[in-house]
Amino acid sequence: MATALPISQNRTRTASAAGKQLREIAIVSINPNDFIDLRSDTVTRPSAGMRAAMASAEVGDDVYGDDPTVNHLQAVLAERFGFDDALFFASGTQSNLAGLMAHCGRGDEYLVGQEAHTYSYEQGGAAVLGSIQPQPLENDADGGISIQRIAKAIKADDIHFARTKLLALENTIGGRVLPQDYQRQVTEFAHARGLLTHLDGARIYNAMVKLKIDEPTAVAGFDSVSVCLSKGLGAPAGSLLLGPREFIAQARRWRKALGGGMRQAGVLAAAGLYALEHHVPLLEQDHANAEFIAVELRAMGLLAQPPQTNIVYVNIPEGHAVNLKAHLQQRGILATVRPRTRLVTHLDLSRDKIETVLRAFRDYPHWNC
Ligand SMILES: Cc1ncc(COP(=O)(O)O)c(C=O)c1O
Repeated sequence: MATALPISQNRTRTASAAGKQLREIAIVSINPNDFIDLRSDTVTRPSAGMRAAMASAEVGDDVYGDDPTVNHLQAVLAERFGFDDALFFASGTQSNLAGLMAHCGRGDEYLVGQEAHTYSYEQGGAAVLGSIQPQPLENDADGGISIQRIAKAIKADDIHFARTKLLALENTIGGRVLPQDYQRQVTEFAHARGLLTHLDGARIYNAMVKLKIDEPTAVAGFDSVSVCLSKGLGAPAGSLLLGPREFIAQARRWRKALGGGMRQAGVLAAAGLYALEHHVPLLEQDHANAEFIAVELRAMGLLAQPPQTNIVYVNIPEGHAVNLKAHLQQRGILATVRPRTRLVTHLDLSRDKIETVLRAFRDYPHWNC
């Protein structure tokens, strides 16, 4: 259990945002392994078993297609998800971008949710590097984009307009699972209107575990999918792009242009294979932990939304975010505390650690100030 942690000599005193309360931000010197980290599910560290798998991986030069472990991982994922082919990338940002660039050319457009990672959190890479115009559309409360909104956004074939080529969705999105009925209807609609469909499935395994469905069902209707190994699955890096053979061949070209051709990448692929074999069933515990956090925070009077998977959103009363963040940090807890705070569970967070987090929320002395 993490208790108050050693505080170094470095302390800074600053006025609070409101200018009323003096707060003390302790710069704590803690071994990063001792933090209880709720910022993201990307923060997990490879377990001993995963490191052993990485150390013993057979490798080769993957730019030449010679790495047997990468080739095996690609074959396994393509087979499991029911696609012709797969391609290993260092990151989800890169696999999404190469996917968008393989689908769309210069002057084409993709329809995407305002809240989508490819639109909001990837520096506009599709536009910056791919010359692809994004058409952002409002996401509904459940994370989807209404078919009416999509229909209105598809541009006519007119010399003034970009060519609407692709619909990109995300699942899970902000921890929400897209309803299967919606997925079927929206992908059918997109295809009927001549659009291609791409899924950012960085957390598709969370959706599968939640809905108790298999891989092909989870991605039904999508022409391509990007799947991350370094989120809830706990690998240190890696994302796979899945799709038809020609599409993957084009994405392979873009991957090289984007500087994403890796050499002895089998050490990373081995971590991914280990994660697929050992970590998928653990996602259910992450979801249960998220649910537990939400229930307990609500019992403290905080407005915490019921999570669908491993991401909890909780409203922090006005004026408390900075002090609460410092309070948690002094107890070895890292969280991105904002008026709307996101807490993410993952395989490095045991129930004991969650209890420590909840105690720290309860002990926060200023709730009534
Ligand atoms: C939904 C989603 N897609 C894509 C990415 C990008 O993945 P990476 O950080 O590996 O580039 C993230 C990262 O957190 C994500 O949450």
